[in-house]
Amino acid sequence: MNPNKALWERGDFTRIAASMRDSGEALVKGFGIRTGLRVMDLGCGDGTTALPMARLGADVLGVDIARNLVDAGNQRAEEEGLTNCRFQEGDATNLHPLPDHAFDLVVTMFGAMFAPKPFQVAEEMVRVTKPRGRIVMGNWIPDDPTLVAQILKISSAYTPPPPEGFVSPMTWGIESNVIERFAGAGVLAEKISFSRDTFTFNYPGPSAAFVEEFRRYYGPTMNAFEAAEKSGRALDLQRELEDLFDKQNKSQRKDTTSIPATFLRVTVVV
Ligand SMILES: C[S@@+](CC[C@H](N)C(=O)[O-])C[C@H]1O[C@@H](n2cnc3c(N)ncnc32)[C@H](O)[C@@H]1O
Repeated sequence: MNPNKALWERGDFTRIAASMRDSGEALVKGFGIRTGLRVMDLGCGDGTTALPMARLGADVLGVDIARNLVDAGNQRAEEEGLTNCRFQEGDATNLHPLPDHAFDLVVTMFGAMFAPKPFQVAEEMVRVTKPRGRIVMGNWIPDDPTLVAQILKISSAYTPPPPEGFVSPMTWGIESNVIERFAGAGVLAEKISFSRDTFTFNYPGPSAAFVEEFRRYYGPTMNAFEAAEKSGRALDLQRELEDLFDKQNKSQRKDTTSIPATFLRVTVVV
């Protein structure tokens, strides 16, 4: 099986996504959504940004490589009666049979960054976007001191080295790489803008319990624990993550967790 698909189907990202709903909803309010806007949410998970865009009237297609997340997204849309929001399986490296120039807006929050072959991903996102349409990406930033970059950094220190030729997802968090990848798809640098933004993870329990959610349900952390167990270092990994989550927790109460994480927001006008 495609290892990228296996990674995300292995866990249950809905458990983590539940902590991201407030930020997802707040973020899309700034996207200029209007009724009937044709939107694709790529690497959409179970709809953290897809559902709020549909609530604002957009016609939303969520595309994700993980079957379980596509099913979860369709269920959430159905439960809300959002007939303008549907989810289907697809791979950011090859979005066929989706036609060229199908969307006014392509959104990918921490989604497309996890696909291999970044040049192909940029090309596909540009292909399916209408001329003068927009692509908005949210990408975690390598070596950033905030939560997700640190989880991925700590996790990778416990995981065996990736196969030769592997391109780290975190390279999407470096502006020069983003420019190079979209240049490969024919987009000029002046059509790309960057800003730093924040997603806050809100969890209704103490930070150590939130670490446990990542350990049990977040693919990259699950893989790290599996490798750490084999090398007898699972307790070290657990302690490092608990320490990280505890230090970053901004909640005033010990029994809840609220952790902001910085990301690179990329806006491309096609
Ligand atoms: C960190 S989650 C983010 C999910 C969602 N955008 C959110 O913010 O809640 C990454 C998502 O990207 C999806 N993904 C990873 N590789 C992909 C690929 N090649 N094509 C499409 N989706 C992919 C995963 O299945 C997962 O749902």
